[in-house]
Amino acid sequence: MATPTAFPCPDLRDEVVVVTGGSRDIGAASARRFAELGAAVVVSGRDRTALGTVVASITSTGGRAAGIAADCTSQEDVDALRAGGEAAFGPATVLLAFAGGDGRPEPMSQLDATRWRAVIDTNLTATYITVRTFALGMIERRRGSIVTMSSTAGRQPGGASVAYAAAKAGIVMLTRHLAVDFAPHGVRINCIAPSAIETERLVELMPASAREQLAQAFPLRRLGSVDDVASTALFLATPESSWITGVTVDLTGGRVTA
Ligand SMILES: NC(=O)c1ccc[n+]([C@@H]2O[C@H](COP(=O)([O-])OP(=O)(O)OC[C@H]3O[C@@H](n4cnc5c(N)ncnc54)[C@H](OP(=O)(O)O)[C@@H]3O)[C@@H](O)[C@H]2O)c1
Repeated sequence: MATPTAFPCPDLRDEVVVVTGGSRDIGAASARRFAELGAAVVVSGRDRTALGTVVASITSTGGRAAGIAADCTSQEDVDALRAGGEAAFGPATVLLAFAGGDGRPEPMSQLDATRWRAVIDTNLTATYITVRTFALGMIERRRGSIVTMSSTAGRQPGGASVAYAAAKAGIVMLTRHLAVDFAPHGVRINCIAPSAIETERLVELMPASAREQLAQAFPLRRLGSVDDVASTALFLATPESSWITGVTVDLTGGRVTA
């Protein structure tokens, strides 16, 4: 009898994973992790060059990936992302709705209604559009797992702008609310709320000494890594967490939020 070929665990070869915010940092690391475990990955973002780099890093090591550019604040773009992903690999079984950002500190005096709407759109509205677009098919097929992206900024007041904090807090409630709606249809949705993650962007912006000082503020005495987020996403997206839905995992190196 032939010896079965060993495959890393969990075996994701039957999964089609869509990652928004996949063009860099957290989303790119998550796309790579799921692809390493056999999933077909649809990587999305707005920057086509960055998408090409992520897709090449996956396919050059034998993984399956396609890059589809989409602005997640646009229903039309997200519809095209869903259709393009289905044409490439079939319907999504996992959605990592990670697109977002722009949480830079801005005092309320400078944050007018236009800026407010832009930050809410980039984070909360984009997440709603993306989740709704993919969840409708998952519900029909009675199969799917969704992970959304909040932030410590949405869990307790801190240095980020109030618009970003409100948007990320909104994603926590969006997740809790939709978890109850989706549960009878066999679809789960959970959320990750990271604190400081050592992304390429952070490394560019902050010198090593400042990052080291920031790390000391965390009980585990280091910053989070993009792989910490990918591991959490993997747990939440796969049957390893099959009795968990509606939760937000605070990924904070021991800085426990209330
Ligand atoms: N880094 C942290 O410490 C941290 C902590 C808490 C939460 N988060 C959250 O984690 C997620 C990823 O963060 P990151 O640090 O990896 O950020 P990043 O390096 O700034 O990447 C943001 C990602 O979101 C995409 N994106 C932004 N707006 C979009 C839009 N309207 N439509 C489609 N894609 C859009 C970007 O795509 P393009 O550049 O291709 O447009 C990019 O792939 C964000 O939601 C962020 O708020 C990060």
